[in-house]
Amino acid sequence: MKILVAGGTGLVGTELLKLLAQRSNVHVTALVRQIPALGFSSDQIVFRVFDYDREEDFQKLAQEKFDAVFCCLGTTRKKAGSDKEFAKVDFEYPRRLLAAVAPSYPIFCAVSSVGADKPRGLYLSTKAAMEKTIMSSGLRYVILRPSLLLGQRQEFRFGEWIAGSLFSRLRPVLENFSEQKIAEFMPIYASEVARAMVTYALDRPPQEGGVVIFGRALFWDDEPT
Ligand SMILES: NC(=O)c1ccc[n+]([C@@H]2O[C@H](COP(=O)([O-])OP(=O)(O)OC[C@H]3O[C@@H](n4cnc5c(N)ncnc54)[C@H](OP(=O)(O)O)[C@@H]3O)[C@@H](O)[C@H]2O)c1
Repeated sequence: MKILVAGGTGLVGTELLKLLAQRSNVHVTALVRQIPALGFSSDQIVFRVFDYDREEDFQKLAQEKFDAVFCCLGTTRKKAGSDKEFAKVDFEYPRRLLAAVAPSYPIFCAVSSVGADKPRGLYLSTKAAMEKTIMSSGLRYVILRPSLLLGQRQEFRFGEWIAGSLFSRLRPVLENFSEQKIAEFMPIYASEVARAMVTYALDRPPQEGGVVIFGRALFWDDEPT
C-alpha cells in the first residue's frame, strides 16, 4: 500500500508515522521541509523534501500513485505571521495537495478541528473551508475533528501548555462520562488522533463518500457519525 503523509514532523504527524512504521504492508512517503531525526527506525518511511509553494513539486506528486493520503499540516496565526500565511498552510496547501493526488483516487484523511461545523473566526473558518474542499472532491475521505491536542511538543506554545496542563489532569475525570457532547470537547492525545486516522482510513475505510470523526468515535472506536 502506498501512503503519502503531509505534516509528518508535527505532533499528530509524528505519532502517525510511528504507527505506520509498525505496519508491514505499507510504503510511506513523508513530505517534509527538512529531514527530521526520527526517534524510531523504519525502512518503510521515506522522507522527501517538499516545497508547498513550488508547482513542480506538486506536478511530480501528480504523476505518482497513492492509496491513502494523510494530511496533518497546520500552523498557528502567531507562527505564520499573518492571516494570509496561516490560511495558506491550513487551507491552501491541503487544497493543492488534494488536487495533485486526486488523479490516483486515494482515500484522503485530514485533521480538522472541533467546531469546524459551526465556524467562527479565522481558525475555524479556515478548517471549514478545508473540509468543504475535501468533501466536494469526489475522493473517499476521513476528516477528524479533535479538541485540544495533548502530547510532548518540541516547541513551546504558552496557551496550549496552560490548557494542556489543566486538561491532562481533568482527562481521567472526563473519561468517566461517555456523553457525545463531553467527548467532542475532551482534550485528546496526539497518539489517539493518529490511531483514529489509521483505524478509519486504513482498517475500516469508507466504501464510498466519506466520514467525519469527532467526539466518541475519536476515542472509543464507535461507528462514525
Ligand atoms: N493544537 C491543537 O490543540 C489542535 C486542536 C485541534 C486540531 N488541531 C489541528 O490538528 C492538526 C495537526 O496539529 P499538530 O499540533 O500536530 O500540528 P503541528 O505540530 O504544528 O505540525 C504541523 C505540521 O505542518 C507542517 N507545516 C507548518 N507550516 C508549514 C509550512 N509553511 N510549510 C510546510 N509545512 C508546514 C509542520 O512542518 P515543520 O515541522 O517543518 O514546521 C508540521 O509537520 C493541525 O491542522 C491543527 O490545526 C490542533
